Amino acid sequence: MSADDWWKCGIVYQVYPRSFQDSNGDGIGDLDGIRARLDHLVSLGVDAVWISPIYPSPMADFGYDIADYCDIDPRFGTLDSFDALVREVHARGLRLILDFVPNHTSDRHPWFVGSRSARGDPRRDWYIWRDPAPGGGPPNNWLGNFGGPAWTFDPATGQYYAHSFLKEQPDLNWRNPEVRAAMHEVLRFWLRRGVDGFRVDVLSQIVKDAQFRDNPPNPDFVEGQDPFLRLTMLYNTDLPEVQPIVAEMRRVVDEFSDARSSRVLIGELYLPLERLVAYYGLDAEGLQLPFNFQLISTEWQAAPIDRFARDYEAALPPGAQPNWVLGNHDKSRIASRVGPRMARLAAMLLLTLRGTPTLYYGDEIGMTDVAIPADEVQDPFEKNKPGMGLGRDPERTPMQWSTAEHAGFTTGTPWLRLAADWRTQNVEAQSRDPGSMLALYKRLIALRRAQPALNRGSYEALEAGGEVLAYARNDEGQRLVVLLNFGPTPAQVPPALVPGQPVVLASTDPARTESIEGPLVLAPCEGVVIGSADDKAPKAR
Ligand code: NOJ
Ligand code: CA
Repeated sequence: MSADDWWKCGIVYQVYPRSFQDSNGDGIGDLDGIRARLDHLVSLGVDAVWISPIYPSPMADFGYDIADYCDIDPRFGTLDSFDALVREVHARGLRLILDFVPNHTSDRHPWFVGSRSARGDPRRDWYIWRDPAPGGGPPNNWLGNFGGPAWTFDPATGQYYAHSFLKEQPDLNWRNPEVRAAMHEVLRFWLRRGVDGFRVDVLSQIVKDAQFRDNPPNPDFVEGQDPFLRLTMLYNTDLPEVQPIVAEMRRVVDEFSDARSSRVLIGELYLPLERLVAYYGLDAEGLQLPFNFQLISTEWQAAPIDRFARDYEAALPPGAQPNWVLGNHDKSRIASRVGPRMARLAAMLLLTLRGTPTLYYGDEIGMTDVAIPADEVQDPFEKNKPGMGLGRDPERTPMQWSTAEHAGFTTGTPWLRLAADWRTQNVEAQSRDPGSMLALYKRLIALRRAQPALNRGSYEALEAGGEVLAYARNDEGQRLVVLLNFGPTPAQVPPALVPGQPVVLASTDPARTESIEGPLVLAPCEGVVIGSADDKAPKAR
């Protein structure tokens, strides 16, 4: 692959900046902290770092409420510390991906301060303002993701403004060409500073129905679920008008792609498969990587994952690069969702499926969700809808580095409590243990680098029966077989699936040896990658 294809053969690692590494003792992670920990990413073997928002923000939604798109929040550092980070990231051969939040700003952004100041303000139409409904009240029934209506009344100017999230996060009006031009300049600002791409926040919601029609009730809603799910988001998500906007963003990003390296757009999209793949765009003028969150939402069993992987392969447009994600800062951690043992199998799945993998910080040491007592809750999602299990603090706790105070995360008081197991489960301790989750991640990543079939080979679904998920990855005559036992009992693999002269190239079970004597029987929750004798010698990638 050419250098241009780094996002096809690379692995993305997400850093939640508040929680990665604090450098100045204020208990909040920052850019200098990330810079100090780059060697961890190198030793892990990942290729790109995506950092959740680091821009000036009142932190109503921890950085996803941006008051200035072209600066750094003082809690995270300065533009100088950002430039230093870019330099050091690149010096290590890594790439840097920033979060781009186009749907909404903070209500403190000067654009919104202007917009709400008067109906005649030049920025009035940069946001979505509507008169009250004829009988009074919000203009329609749309709901905010974090609770309550998606509309807030502004008494000074007598209209409602739209916000898909908190009232402190007013939605920009992407139908306005001035907004589009201003946001393109934001992309250019960071591209000029050397960033290699963007993860684009809530992309599917950036355009709303021109007639502002009511959303219909969701027929699948079950009482007790998040009340936001009462309605189907027919008129405020995934409208056809989003596609040309994505194509425009892609053209801006492509202005900065050159023979040495392409810049990448990754989209946050929680959509059904047929809609998701539309975001690759016609003739590949859309996103390079529309996030595939299926491994987060799926039932954790072989059959549904097998079905989805086949459907995904079939639905991808020609030449499109697939991708897979196990977790992020909005979802319960994989080790808590499936349990510590199964989390090892999940790691093998993520790193052997065809497509660009994205890792969430801490998953490489098996970090789990941390229960946050009510009086320590930070996340507005939990504060607005308490006790429903919606809060995201549990998956945002500080990275566990070492046995030093506060796991080496900070010398001050961490902004969010650490997991109780930090003294034993941390990077330092796991680095010394060949049976650790960290050792498994490193082995799997190294294998993916060494074996072209895992990196860029085709995907061939196999039938293993029972609770074993099986597939082969094929590249220029090389064939590797992946076998994953999702069941709680040992599973014998059909002999026809095992290659001739089989060699176990990796197993989630540290006790497994390289050779296979007799029939291959997988332990409960065990996954293996099998090659032939000549796959043992690492190949260049
Ligand atoms: C998705 C982000 O991942 C989430 O953390 C945030 O709260 C919402 N978008 C709003 O920006
Ligand atoms: Ca700090």
